[in-house]
This record gives sequence, C-alpha cells and structure tokens, in this order.
Amino acid sequence: MDQFEGKTAVVTGAASGIGLAMARKFAAEGMNVVLADIEVEALDAAVAELRSSGTQALGVICDVAQRSEVQRLADQCIEQFGAVHVVCNNAGVASGGTLWEFTEQDWQWVLGVDLWAVIHGVSIFVPLLIEAGGGHIVNTASMAGLTSTPFMGPYNVAKHGVVTLSETLFHELAMLAPNVGVTVLCPGWVQTQINRSERNRPEAERTSESPSATESGIGAALDKLIAEGLEPSDVAQLVFDAVRDNKFYVLTHPEWSPMVQRNTETMLAGNNPRVFLPGSR
Ligand SMILES: NC(=O)c1ccc[n+]([C@@H]2O[C@H](COP(=O)([O-])OP(=O)(O)OC[C@H]3O[C@@H](n4cnc5c(N)ncnc54)[C@H](O)[C@@H]3O)[C@@H](O)[C@H]2O)c1
Repeated sequence: MDQFEGKTAVVTGAASGIGLAMARKFAAEGMNVVLADIEVEALDAAVAELRSSGTQALGVICDVAQRSEVQRLADQCIEQFGAVHVVCNNAGVASGGTLWEFTEQDWQWVLGVDLWAVIHGVSIFVPLLIEAGGGHIVNTASMAGLTSTPFMGPYNVAKHGVVTLSETLFHELAMLAPNVGVTVLCPGWVQTQINRSERNRPEAERTSESPSATESGIGAALDKLIAEGLEPSDVAQLVFDAVRDNKFYVLTHPEWSPMVQRNTETMLAGNNPRVFLPGSR
C-alpha cells in the first residue's frame, strides 16, 4: 500500500499496548482509525486522544472472540467510513501454567481471543478489503507461534495457528486477490499489559481452578521480561513499514531468530526438542 491518507484502518485490542501504538501510527499517517476493544474506559481514552489530534476515530466495544461482534464491528466501519483498507487482528491474551492444569475455560478464553478472533477477522474483513479494491491485513502472532516454550500451552497453540493461517492466506490472496497484502507480526517481549490479561477475562471463562501465574512464579518472571521489552511504538513502526512495503513476516527481535533456526535443525536432524533461549546460538 502506498496511499494512506484518508483511508481507514481497523485495529483490534487498540486500547492498550501494541494495538494502541498501531492506532496512533495509522492516525499519524492521516488515516481514519476504528479502534475495537473490550476494555471500555481504556478504549474511550484512546479514542479521545486520537480525536484530540484531529483524527477521525471511532471506538467500538467488541469481544473479538464472538463472531457476531466482529461482524458488527465491520458493519460499523462501513457505515461510518464506507470502506476498510487496513485491518489489524491484534487483540490477545496470555495465560501461564502446565498443559495438564489449564481448564477448559482457560483454553476457550485464550483460543477465543488469540485464534478464533483472527479466524473471524479474516473471514469477515478480507471480502471487504477485496471490495475496497485492495488493502492489507495484519495478524498479530508472536515468537510463540514459531517456538514451543513451556508453560504457555494454549497461547503457543493459538499463535502457531495464527502463523499458519496467515501463511495460507498469503498464498490464497497472491493467487486470487493480489491487491490485498498480508503481514504476520511475531514479536518477542514488548512493554505492554499482556501480563495483566486476566483483567479482561469474561466471567463465563473464569474459573478458580486455573493455574495461578503468581503462585507458579511465572508472573514475576514475565513482568521482568516485559519491562525490558521493546517499546510498542517501535513495533508499530515496523508494522507500518511492512504494510507500506508489502512484507509478510515481521520478526521484531532478530536476536531470537537463531532459536527458530535451531528448533528447525533439531527437528530435521530427528533429535528431540530442546528449549533454546533468546539469543542462544
Ligand atoms: N507484549 C508482548 O510481549 C507480546 C509478545 C508477542 C505477541 N504479543 C501479542 O500482541 C498483541 C497485543 O497485546 P499487547 O501485548 O499489546 O497486550 P495488552 O494487554 O497491552 O493489549 C491487548 C489488548 O487486547 C484487548 N483485549 C483482550 N481481550 C479482548 C477481547 N476479547 N476482545 C477485544 N479486545 C480484547 C485488551 O483489552 C487490550 O487492550 C496480542 O495478540 C499479544 O498476544 C505481545
């Protein structure tokens, strides 16, 4: 995409972290921005901020795990701005523990927000991007979509799903609708509120039996890694560059790439999996 001014971007999970940074970046490029999120106060604040700097911003309260709500989001985008040109399926949540501890509700929550929401976003928005004559879709995965770090089972499953879904979409669009580009965003640690994901967990998917990140010590370790992570605005710049240059993979932490390479080499050599740490060679 080379023309952004006056076009419309939709970002899910836009009230915080990477989503908010992407919304700010698209706004700074002169786009209309539709911000979707489940956290009402934070969403209102984000919309007010963008409007105060002259952006045509629309906030939509939306639980992206629900297909009907993503459909309503798309309907509101079209009603307000007539067309959609950039779609960022970005909302996400994380939960820590062992695979045998997670409850069915944990799985439903994480797979709902991290995988089903992307499935809904692709099936509902891609036809609109084609109808608009072209555009770009950005799916936020993670380095967890390229590796299988312990204690993040549902998150790993969802993010691997987002990577393969995006690669498949890339091939299909290249064959059938080449005016629509795709990017899969695979960040390492970024300074956001992902370690406070429970704040937005719906009551129906809450259970007292879920593994406790605090008790297991995963929470404190995660807080430290996230505090030392990239700035969301740096990630947003990389995403914007990828949309402009039609680049598929955005791996924000090049120092993590040897991890992916060693995983693949281990598999191809027929050896058993090992845990490789970021930066290990
Ligand atoms: N922060 C990191 O280190 C990191 C690393 C890799 C990938 N990611 C991914 O980046 C994306 C953005 O997360 P973040 O790190 O900015 O975290 P964040 O918590 O700061 O932002 C996530 C946003 O998603 C929203 N959200 C949660 N559930 C929702 C739902 N059901 N419907 C709509 N919105 C919902 C939250 O309210 C929040 O505003 C996620 O997909 C996450 O998995 C983050």
